[in-house]
Amino acid sequence: MKHIYRPGKREGAPVLLLLHGTGGTEHDLLSVADAVSSDSAVLSVRGNVLENGMPRFFRRLAEGVFDLEDLAFRTKELHDFLDEAAAQYGFERGNVVAIGYSNGANIAGSLLFRYEGTLKGAILHHPMVPQRGLQLPSLSGVPVFIGAGENDPICRPEETEELEGILSGAGAEVSVHWERAGHRLTGTEVAEAAAWFAERFGTGEEGQAKS
Ligand code: MLT
Repeated sequence: MKHIYRPGKREGAPVLLLLHGTGGTEHDLLSVADAVSSDSAVLSVRGNVLENGMPRFFRRLAEGVFDLEDLAFRTKELHDFLDEAAAQYGFERGNVVAIGYSNGANIAGSLLFRYEGTLKGAILHHPMVPQRGLQLPSLSGVPVFIGAGENDPICRPEETEELEGILSGAGAEVSVHWERAGHRLTGTEVAEAAAWFAERFGTGEEGQAKS
């Protein structure tokens, strides 16, 4: 898959897997990664599907109606790509935290819904329920941050709550942050995600203070 890999500056810091929204590229979320964990390695991937020239991670039949066969295929493709990238770049496969926005959050959710241990944690900005009726693997010990907009017309509040329930039901530790906003990714939401990440995965600062 087309991607950017940037090595990290802190031993053991989670590798950030960046997954853009519809019409985005692998460059879109680099500044978000810097805000969340500037010393982490970054693997930023471009979706392999094109919708009227706009990159996406899987096909959809209409707005909010996913092509479930393609979703399964593309989720496996991304899961396999993570294995390959870990071998190629020499990072620990079990130390990957996803940051996805919109369509990218939806494929990150689909990874969590299908593959045990594929992500150590996830920051999902404006996700939907990727698929209903799946038996999820255990997500015990997997922290998930969901950023949602009270007035998001694409990822509606009821669907955010449904997703929270499904992930918690599989054992994930879910934190939902609400913004008085729509589908847009705001600076305050990114700052909340950064604080959530620092609490769970640490920052480079303690280490730097000691050295
Ligand atoms: C999707 O298709 O994944 C969602 O509708 C979000 C988006 O517009 O990309």
